Amino acid sequence: MTLGSLTLRDFRCFKRTEFDPTPGLNLVSAPNASGKSSLLEAICVLLRLQSPRAGTLSETIRHGTEGFSILARFGPRSLACHLGKSKGRHLLLDDVPQRKSNDYLRVGLVAFFSSSDIELIRGTSSKRRRFLDFLGSQCDVGYLKHLRAYERALRARNFLLKDGPHRGRELAAYNGPFLESGEYLAKARARLCDDLTPLVAHHVHTISNNGEIATLRYKSSGGPDLQVALADSFSEEQRLRQTIVGPHRDDMILEVNAASAHTFASEGQQRTFALALRLAQAELIRTRRGVPPIYLLDDIFGELDSHRRHRLLGALPADAQALLTTTSWHWLEEATGAPHWTITEGRVVSQQHIT
Ligand SMILES: Nc1ncnc2c1ncn2[C@@H]1O[C@H](COP(=O)(O)OP(=O)(O)O)[C@@H](O)[C@H]1O
Ligand SMILES: [Mg+2]
Repeated sequence: MTLGSLTLRDFRCFKRTEFDPTPGLNLVSAPNASGKSSLLEAICVLLRLQSPRAGTLSETIRHGTEGFSILARFGPRSLACHLGKSKGRHLLLDDVPQRKSNDYLRVGLVAFFSSSDIELIRGTSSKRRRFLDFLGSQCDVGYLKHLRAYERALRARNFLLKDGPHRGRELAAYNGPFLESGEYLAKARARLCDDLTPLVAHHVHTISNNGEIATLRYKSSGGPDLQVALADSFSEEQRLRQTIVGPHRDDMILEVNAASAHTFASEGQQRTFALALRLAQAELIRTRRGVPPIYLLDDIFGELDSHRRHRLLGALPADAQALLTTTSWHWLEEATGAPHWTITEGRVVSQQHIT
């Protein structure tokens, strides 16, 4: 599946621009603040309806305008996403308006690499849950439905707990959906971690080249049985007035040579681990869905040494479409033959092929 004929209107710094990438590797090099991250973000928003960096999609509407439009072809399909400040979200799949996003989200698959990926290792558990949710929603048909149901039940529980003990009966009514979707998510995420493990281990091993063993596993906040954990936490959640067990508190434990990657790994090891996680994510999407995702690599080449850059370029599958952004030109000869764009005055313009 190839993304092409992309049109952006009033998205971030882009008033209106078009971009028609080729099926293989595509390079976009431009100075800071010209719109490289925004371009890749727009593709992610179009295909997955979520931004890798914004808290809410309304932040991405160009300042002073009413809403954005992103349109593209993806293989034989056409996708359009409009977001208006007052009109809300409007989706079109093959020119047919979509009331729900289920069919729409089945079309586009994305693996997003960013220069802040090291936060997957160093950052709080919310970064790792977000990573798993982004992956889960692309690998597993029921995932997004359960994630939304879980979030609804969690919000309701927390609201009732905050209100006080007199809401106990209403609280109990939410336990069913909370447990059903919570158990589904925990199981799906644990399976993702199991499936990622050999892929991550392989990439860490080949990138670092010094026999490091990387492992990951899913850690449930309340233990293996969510129903038991919820019952056991009853008095504590009444005291704290919030739900203290469940997938919203779970984590993915990352280790290098059996020691916590968060605490003990060097910065180089952490970068390698983060890169391996992203490559593994893309491969797992391909295994589960039968086609590779589009690889969006936002400005990560500048901070990698030439060995890691080489490994990364070598790990991009020949049959996958990849879009790479960069500010620096000095490594571009490593991507010989790839078509090349730049961004000037809010427009994506084609440059000659790198030779
Ligand atoms: N909602 C918005 N409306 C208009 N401009 C924006 C908006 N959000 C960000 N920008 C601007 O877009 C420009 C490009 O940002 P970015 O895509 O991060 O650039 P790059 O990745 O090339 O460094 C920045 O100057 C930023 O201030
Ligand atoms: Mg950027």
